[in-house]
Amino acid sequence: MAETRKFPHHLIREIFEQPDALRRTIAPRVSQAEGRVRLDEIHISREELRALRRINIVASGTSRHAGMTGQYMLQELAGVPVDVDYASEFEYRNPMIGRGELSIFITQSGETADTTASQREARQKGSRTIAISNVEGSTIAREADGFIYTDAGPEISIASTKAFTAQMACLFLFALYLGEIKEKVPKALAQHYIRELLALPEKTETILAASDKVEKLAELYYRVDDFMFLGRAIHYPIAMDGALKLKEVSYIHAEGYPTGEAKHGPNAMIDFRLPLVLIATCDRNNNDAGSVARYQQSVSNMEGFKKQGATLIALATEGDTIVPKIANHTIFIPAVPELLSPILEIVPLQLFAYYVAAKRGLDVDHPRNLVKAVTLE
Ligand code: F6R
Repeated sequence: MAETRKFPHHLIREIFEQPDALRRTIAPRVSQAEGRVRLDEIHISREELRALRRINIVASGTSRHAGMTGQYMLQELAGVPVDVDYASEFEYRNPMIGRGELSIFITQSGETADTTASQREARQKGSRTIAISNVEGSTIAREADGFIYTDAGPEISIASTKAFTAQMACLFLFALYLGEIKEKVPKALAQHYIRELLALPEKTETILAASDKVEKLAELYYRVDDFMFLGRAIHYPIAMDGALKLKEVSYIHAEGYPTGEAKHGPNAMIDFRLPLVLIATCDRNNNDAGSVARYQQSVSNMEGFKKQGATLIALATEGDTIVPKIANHTIFIPAVPELLSPILEIVPLQLFAYYVAAKRGLDVDHPRNLVKAVTLE
């Protein structure tokens, strides 16, 4: 899809390269018939992985948001408690980690100083480490016990897009791998998830094929100076990343918040002047009662915001007839199991940030004051 088109900026090309990046990252590592994930690069024995007591995920910026989705994936599929840290804060909290634990460091560049320093600290304390990076041979990869490569291709634009979706795919693959080792994921469930993983590139293409709708939305909103992004559970990190993308490429103030937290303060700000981007996706055929309950809570929150006069831009699942009746605008994503939904949900939000920035006439590939790899702590 990306190869046959000409793009005015790296950022939009990289957003459109996501189906291929996902294909390269996922397909070589799964066997659907066997219901197995192969991660030969891990170099940590199955016995050691089976005995893991806890996992720490450490990263910065968008990579940390991937880590936050990984927390849900790993806890759900492998039944291991997971903590997520900002790499820039890791050493300050004197992390109480050690043997019997695994620390995962996520970094597109593999050179972010806070993240490489955190890995050294974790190793010094006796933790095993795995790096997830888009650069083979990078500092993080060289120093880790195990390495999972996001085969997203070079990411040139400063804002991270295709590396982010590939990081989430890698975290899901690792969660499935660990779940199988810990005997938490039966073969039929693994086969189901592998089928769904392999379907992600095509579903991403469906979202990209409707990019004109997101562009029209950007046309309506690009002059607005404040946004709030809301999501609950595994959708919350996507609200955070949608807000971060808008901040960094458009210089628009945007906050990412857990939907249920709005009533603990931010709700005072919510009226017609503050557009809300709210994630309310749910594939009713594919998810458990918990997922449906979370969706229903989000719908009820939306109704409350609507009564306050808020302008709502919702992300919903194709076929949903409830959300579009409440929201002012609805962007649809294809049906997908909830644990994989972040990989699709972020794509329209990336497009939105891109089109808003482009309409503002900004240098979308090189936002001011930012560099691609922050190599100083
Ligand atoms: C956001 C963005 C940054 C990076 C962060 C970490 O779009 O690009 O927030 O995610 O600086 O960079 P890496 O992943 O290279 O460690």
